[in-house]
Amino acid sequence: MNLAIIGHGKMGRLIEQLAPEYGFAVTSRLNSANNRDASGITGNNFAGVDVAVDFSTAAAAPHNIARLAALQINTVVGTTGWTQYLPQVQARVRDSNIGMVWSPNYSIGVNIFLQLASEASRRLASYKEYGAWAWEIHHAAKKDAPSGTLLKVVDEMQRADPGREVSVSSNRAGAHPGTHEIGFDSAADSLTIRHTARSREGFARGALLAARWVAGKQGWFEFRDVLFAQDSAPGALNRKGGASAPPSSAEKQGALAPEAELLDRG
Ligand SMILES: NC(=O)c1ccc[n+]([C@@H]2O[C@H](COP(=O)([O-])OP(=O)(O)OC[C@H]3O[C@@H](n4cnc5c(N)ncnc54)[C@H](OP(=O)(O)O)[C@@H]3O)[C@@H](O)[C@H]2O)c1
Repeated sequence: MNLAIIGHGKMGRLIEQLAPEYGFAVTSRLNSANNRDASGITGNNFAGVDVAVDFSTAAAAPHNIARLAALQINTVVGTTGWTQYLPQVQARVRDSNIGMVWSPNYSIGVNIFLQLASEASRRLASYKEYGAWAWEIHHAAKKDAPSGTLLKVVDEMQRADPGREVSVSSNRAGAHPGTHEIGFDSAADSLTIRHTARSREGFARGALLAARWVAGKQGWFEFRDVLFAQDSAPGALNRKGGASAPPSSAEKQGALAPEAELLDRG
């Protein structure tokens, strides 16, 4: 199968290196120089491409996705920082009948961590003496803060316990590939759940797993659909013809985003 890599930085290069292990030949690589305003995503450049992976920038990703949808290219998106456009992007994906997997974090461990955070929040919903926090640290070059993963974790905690306040904080320092922690604290005790990434390799392998999985599929998926396909995936975002989940806070926020017309450039 042929793979296009959009965003040939730290993640894109690692995905290229590992792609043959997942049965992919990399036929296209785009960066800021050859894809300004998604201009590199053309029928000619993408002829024969089975799946594209986007690990670019928050400013570029929504335009890239719109162009890929127009060209009917199934896509895996790992780029973070653009969730205000999520509703418009989801609509574009559905209208074009492509398959797209989106996740702010393609590590298997983080997706288990998300489920644990949601379950802990649900079980502590009636114990208001527990205050909740969410924290993350990443390398100094990471642009968005809080991370897309932390926003997703907080969203899961608040879906499980609507109205739950969560104190959120971030650090940017050194070379950390990513640590996320949540906790609940009371006068009696403290509960902490932490995920620590050891390198970017887990993200790259997860994205390639998702790319292989989404080839030939239609609809909007999250990484947990790839990992836990046999589960009913409670709370999963809408699939074509599937059950609807309540809108997340990011979706509600995005529905009002005045920048929505940006997508029309795609
Ligand atoms: N979901 C996950 O599991 C996961 C894991 C790690 C990172 N991420 C996210 O993935 C994104 C990339 O991370 P990274 O660490 O690889 O960053 P990076 O090293 O800074 O790479 C970003 C790449 O995007 C390219 N780019 C900029 N504008 C572009 C455009 N219009 N079209 C195509 N490519 C363009 C840059 O090109 P130039 O070099 O020419 O500027 C660069 O090659 C970030 O949003 C990060 O938060 C997600």
